[in-house]
Amino acid sequence: MEREFDTVRAVQWRDGRLVLLDQRRLPESTEFVMLDDATATAQAIRDMVVRGAPAIGVTAAYGVVLAARDAYARSGPDWRGSWGSDLETLAAARPTAVNLAWAIARMVRRAEALGEEDPAAALLAEARAIHAEDIAANRRMGELGAALFDKPCGVLTHCNTGSLATGGYGTALGVIRSAYRAGKVTEVFADETRPWLQGARLTAWELTTDGIPVRLLVDGAAAHLMASGQVGWLIVGADRIAANGDVANKIGTYAAAIAARHHGVRVMVVAPSTTVDPATPDGASIPIEQRDPGEVLAWGGHRVAPPGVAAWNPAFDVTPAALIDALVTERGVVRAPDRERMRAVFPAGAPGVD
Ligand code: MRU
Repeated sequence: MEREFDTVRAVQWRDGRLVLLDQRRLPESTEFVMLDDATATAQAIRDMVVRGAPAIGVTAAYGVVLAARDAYARSGPDWRGSWGSDLETLAAARPTAVNLAWAIARMVRRAEALGEEDPAAALLAEARAIHAEDIAANRRMGELGAALFDKPCGVLTHCNTGSLATGGYGTALGVIRSAYRAGKVTEVFADETRPWLQGARLTAWELTTDGIPVRLLVDGAAAHLMASGQVGWLIVGADRIAANGDVANKIGTYAAAIAARHHGVRVMVVAPSTTVDPATPDGASIPIEQRDPGEVLAWGGHRVAPPGVAAWNPAFDVTPAALIDALVTERGVVRAPDRERMRAVFPAGAPGVD
């Protein structure tokens, strides 16, 4: 059988519990966190037990199942009257990844169609559908993205966009998986992705686990790598894509995209339609999460900056659409995205577009 290069699953539903692979502990240890309620699920998203926009959305969908189960146990047929605060807590867990709000809205729409019976089974089926659709979208994007390679080349990626960041397979890393299988990727380079080190800890672990060789570099080496001619594509994911094609993604993506344009390296953004937010007009309107300065001031649990020094720690930046050569979604590829080309694939108010 052809190798799939895809074995990791970060989000699972097992025996009535939400089970998350604890991404704070990787790569030192493979531990799982078991969750039984929506508050603990929101906390796990905030603490980055699970992270990556699509994985956050899938997790939130299962979190809504837990909220409904508790509400029914408390209030019986009036369960919808008592789950509001759980939904708000889930929705507030992290601000930038729009998949979170999208998944909760879809689960609530499903709940509205139910009667007074126990909602758990119907909502679990909906959450499982969201999960399965995400994996299917990733596989489709893998094919579409791999087809954009006109010749084998090295690729550079940033952050972690693989099975750990999604329902499974991955967005940018899904394209890299598919292109690697097709013999189109000669070498994978991964930025370490300061300060949380998603590249060094997660992408390197995930690719190594699945038998795809990877070379790490510090974020500051990305422009030098591109100048050396070793990569043909910069391939990244997205946390939210605005109506004009601007892309919010892990901090450092913008700098890498500027360097790519300067050196003639093409930029591919890979994200499911659940990451596209037609209600956000442009990148400047995307809320950018600010995280604990301690993530910058310390490394590996040890403080590296002198006492009294402050830090600025935005978790994401915005890459303008003008720097993007191809935006790959499961609905198709938008080349050189702008407002008009985005509208052609994602018309506001179309089915599935919130
Ligand atoms: O802070 P994180 O780790 O949740 O940020 C994740 C990213 O920025 C990813 O690149 C993005 O979500 C795409 S994941 C398929």
